[in-house]
Amino acid sequence: MDSTTKKTRKIIVTQALPYANASLHLGHILEAVQTDIWVRFQNINQNECLFFCADDTHGTPVMLKAKELGIQPEELIKNVQLDHIDTYDLYDIKFTNFHSTHSDENKKYSEQIYLKAKDNGYISRKTINQLFDESESMFLSDRFIKGTCPKCGAEDQYGDNCSVCGATYDVSDIKNPMSAISNTKPIKKESEHLFFDLPKQIDILKDFLKNSDLQKPITNKLNEWLNDDLQQWDISRDAPYFGFEIPGENQKYFYVWLDAPIGYLASIDNWASKNNLDMNNLWSEKSEYEIYHFIGKDIAYFHGLFWPALLSAANFKLPKGVYVHGFLTVNGEKMSKSKGTGIMAKEFADICDPETLRYYFAAKLNDKVEDIDLNFEDYVQRVNSDLVGKYLNIASRCSSFIKKNDNNLSTDIDQTILNTLTSRKGEILGFYESRNYSKVVRLIMELADQVNKYINDKTPWKKDIDEAVIISSTALNAFNILSIYLSPIIPNITKNAFNFLNSDNFLFSDIDKILLNKINKYDPLLNRMEPIKIPKENIMNDENNYININQFTDIDLRVAKIIEASHVEGADKLLQLKLDVGDLGERQVFAGIKSAYNPDELNNKLVILVSNLEPRKMKFGVSEGMVLASSDDKGIYLISPDTGATPGLRVK
Ligand code: 2FM
Ligand code: ZN
Repeated sequence: MDSTTKKTRKIIVTQALPYANASLHLGHILEAVQTDIWVRFQNINQNECLFFCADDTHGTPVMLKAKELGIQPEELIKNVQLDHIDTYDLYDIKFTNFHSTHSDENKKYSEQIYLKAKDNGYISRKTINQLFDESESMFLSDRFIKGTCPKCGAEDQYGDNCSVCGATYDVSDIKNPMSAISNTKPIKKESEHLFFDLPKQIDILKDFLKNSDLQKPITNKLNEWLNDDLQQWDISRDAPYFGFEIPGENQKYFYVWLDAPIGYLASIDNWASKNNLDMNNLWSEKSEYEIYHFIGKDIAYFHGLFWPALLSAANFKLPKGVYVHGFLTVNGEKMSKSKGTGIMAKEFADICDPETLRYYFAAKLNDKVEDIDLNFEDYVQRVNSDLVGKYLNIASRCSSFIKKNDNNLSTDIDQTILNTLTSRKGEILGFYESRNYSKVVRLIMELADQVNKYINDKTPWKKDIDEAVIISSTALNAFNILSIYLSPIIPNITKNAFNFLNSDNFLFSDIDKILLNKINKYDPLLNRMEPIKIPKENIMNDENNYININQFTDIDLRVAKIIEASHVEGADKLLQLKLDVGDLGERQVFAGIKSAYNPDELNNKLVILVSNLEPRKMKFGVSEGMVLASSDDKGIYLISPDTGATPGLRVK
């Protein structure tokens, strides 16, 4: 089909909404790149494809994170949203709109969908026994309960789903529950909750699984869940909860997973109003748009069952497809701080050109649910050999001959090699459409090999200038075609390639057009990558390593004044300190700071003492606490309070 007869599809795409309690890591970027490539491909193939996202802002994690930082949740989610937008931007993720679930639009749709579902008889109420953390005086939301999976027996599972067997269950069914906030055993307490009637939607869901575009293992898993005793879905949470209050109820809030996917609608609606468009034409029962969700495998249950059930109960159009990807591993390991494999996306962009990561992810992605491994060695090798060594090599080899021709391309072109490239367009489009990007990349690199072989065979460097210009012009036209093919994957490099070629041909329908303009000077579009080393501070914070506020306040930190400091006979590293700790009296502490401080310079210095550390008997005497210091390979730095602090003051 050429561009004149092509029927334009109207498509809405979403990616999963990132939680607003932390910065993005590379796992988020994997999903964003997979989705962004598909959206760009659709648009370059002249479909109308819109891409929506938002921050997922509600629920206990955001509430607790804000508390930990001593700020309001609203402030936290505002800061995180700016950070998320900046980070996606670094990776060239081009959203049509990025919004927030803590928005007027989301409140409107959450209420509307809930009330419609209620009118249609899908909402019931039931008093349940819920786990309650007495030390925190709050009901425990799912992810703050850990225990044993009721289905497979895996230990240390959080909340209402199991990371080992993938089952989703009612959180009250988890075995041996503990509060993940205070590490105390929660009690059961009664509370009235609202439920969405999932079993009533079983026929709709069966149809959905039959008729929508889902990967086989996902359909199987969803069918298994569907046939395995569907439960009423608990959609309310008690105060304190950061979210939307449920209309007509007292102090009850929508569960975050109710309003999170509704955030897709909210983001679209927000964009529609800014552009004077009618939301009903975008996403309603009668909308012409095909709707696709890109998500990770851990949230297939929500998108494959709850979400279509909810949409249909409120008379909204169902998605046409849900595309699921696996998790990201780094050098073969699950992302984890302790193993040094969880990498923050913003910091990674300082170390490697984000386009190269887009390329590597594309080279690994397919339509399967399997995990994707980011292997640093393979990554560097792939980028250097494919992008630098094959694709960009064509431009750098040929530009010098055109320069000698006053930068003019020849219109006398060797069509055969170009036909070889254009004849593969159908396959490339097919691979993009089915998300088999690894096949796209392999095929394009095969074509780049052929162009390099063409140049080798024609040996322009041995020919007179006229012939060399014809060969080089042919190769640069081929380079333009390869750039069009690659543009959904590496939009920034290919944009610079089009600038170099002075080319307006960047749609898939342009691949038969011959370049006519003068070209520009060639500056290398990408440098070879060096081996990757990730500094420690760029590794992500492992959420499971949090301490709670009680654990923190258990540490009794005091301002202390050094009243005497001396060397310790026979100790290489230690100094003996006598401290004045105000109302706690005097303390003796042995501190490993000898390499950085002379005893003389320490007299009268204020420091911070961990005063309730268990006294430690050492060879030289008893150490009654610990003074705080930081260190790096250059030295040791004692931590001191500002002037004015007096011995004995509590640090909190
Ligand atoms: O799993 C997550 O990271 C969720 N924040 C995804 C929400 S997707 C959608 F439903 F909002
Ligand atoms: Zn399990």
